[in-house]
Amino acid sequence: MPRPWNVFVEGDNLDVLSRLGAGSVDLITIDPPYNTGNGFAYTDRWGRHEAWLAMMRPRLVAAREVLRETGAIFVSIDDHEVAHLRLLMDEVYGERNFLAQVVVNLNPKGRQLGGGFATSHEYLLVYARDAAQCVLDATTTETVDPADFPLTADDGRRYRHLPLRNTNKKFNPATARTLHFAVHGDPASGRVSTAPFTGSVEVLPVFGDGSPAVWRWSRPRIDERPGDLVCRVVAGRLGERVDVFQKDWLSPDRRKKLRTIWLAEEIGSTDTAVAELKALVGQVFESPKPTGLTRRILQTMPDDVTVLDFFAGSGTTGHAVALANAEDGGRRTCLSVNSAEPTRPGSHAHRAGLLTVADITRARLRAVAETVGGGFREATRAPGWDA
Ligand SMILES: C[S@@+](CC[C@H](N)C(=O)[O-])C[C@H]1O[C@@H](n2cnc3c(N)ncnc32)[C@H](O)[C@@H]1O
Repeated sequence: MPRPWNVFVEGDNLDVLSRLGAGSVDLITIDPPYNTGNGFAYTDRWGRHEAWLAMMRPRLVAAREVLRETGAIFVSIDDHEVAHLRLLMDEVYGERNFLAQVVVNLNPKGRQLGGGFATSHEYLLVYARDAAQCVLDATTTETVDPADFPLTADDGRRYRHLPLRNTNKKFNPATARTLHFAVHGDPASGRVSTAPFTGSVEVLPVFGDGSPAVWRWSRPRIDERPGDLVCRVVAGRLGERVDVFQKDWLSPDRRKKLRTIWLAEEIGSTDTAVAELKALVGQVFESPKPTGLTRRILQTMPDDVTVLDFFAGSGTTGHAVALANAEDGGRRTCLSVNSAEPTRPGSHAHRAGLLTVADITRARLRAVAETVGGGFREATRAPGWDA
C-alpha cells in the first residue's frame, strides 16, 4: 500500500529523529518554540539563549543526518533567536550551505503590544545539506508579472524588449572579445542580421556613454533566432541611435527568482493561519503558520519529496502538503512529529477535549485527510514511518 500523504508520530522529536533512517528525508521545515522567555527556566538573557541553543543543537545535528544529500532545511525564527540560530546553523550545516535568510511578513499591521517598533516580520533560515548537490530551485511561476511584458505580438503573445547589448560593465571587448562585432539592422522593418542587407545600417554594441560594449548573443545564435530580435531607434544620452533588442517572451512556464522578502499578501498572515485552522478544527492553537508559507517552500522542491516537520504544532506542514498534492497531482509525503505537551486548562483546545498539542496535530491531519484527501496514519516507531 502506498504511504499516505500524512503520517504523525507523537513523541519527543530528538528520540524520533534518532530512529529515522540516514538520508531518508528530502525537505525539513520546522518552526521551533521561539524562546519568548516563558518556556525556559532561566531569568537572565544569556542563560535563556544557552538553554534554547542546548535544546536545538542536538536536534539540528540529528536532522542533518536524516536529510538526503540533495535536501534542504527551512527553519522559522523571530528576532529573539535569529542571530544565535544563524550561527548554530552555520556550525551544523556549514556556512557554505547557507541559501537564504528570508524575511516573512506574517503580521502586516505590525505588533501593537508593548513599546518600540511594530514588528511585522519573522525569518526563515534556509540551508542545503550540500549546496553543490541540492535540488532546491528558488524560482517560481507564481510571481511572474504579466505587466512586466507590455508588448504584444501579432499572434497575441506578450513580450518585452531586452537590450541585446550586455549591460554588465564586466563584459566588454577586453574580457569578451568574440562578442564585440557589428550586426546589421533596419529600424524601419526591425529586421536584424549578421550580414548586411538592403536598407540595413551597421550597429555596434556601446554603453550609454558611447564606450564599446559586447553583445549577449554570439553570431551563430543571432543567425539562428533572427525572429527574436528587433532593430529600433532609441533616444540615448548622446542623442538618437540605432540599437538591437531581444524579444523576451512571456511563456506559461516562465519562472522568476523568489525574492527574500515574502509578503503576507502572497503567502498569508498569522490571521489567515488562525482562520484556516479554525475552519478545520477550531481556534485551538495560538500561533499557527499559514499554509501559503509552507506551500511556497514546497514549490522550491520536486513534487514527490519526503517532508519532515518535527515541531509540527497544529499540523500546518501536513495540511500544506495535502493541498499542494491536490493542486498539482504531486506525490509528496509528510511526517509530522509533536510531543504530548499539555494544552492549557481553560484554553479552547482543552475545552474541546484536545488535552495535548499532539491531539491537536492529529485532529487537524485527520480533518485534512477527510476534506483534502491523501489519507492519514499514526505511526509509533517511525523508521519507515511504520506500515
Ligand atoms: C511554534 S510551534 C509550531 C507551530 C506550527 N508551525 C503550526 O503552524 O502550528 C512549536 C511546537 O513544537 C512542539 N515541541 C516543542 N518541543 C518539542 C520536542 N522536544 N519534541 C516534539 N515537539 C516539540 C510544541 O508542542 C509546539 O507545538
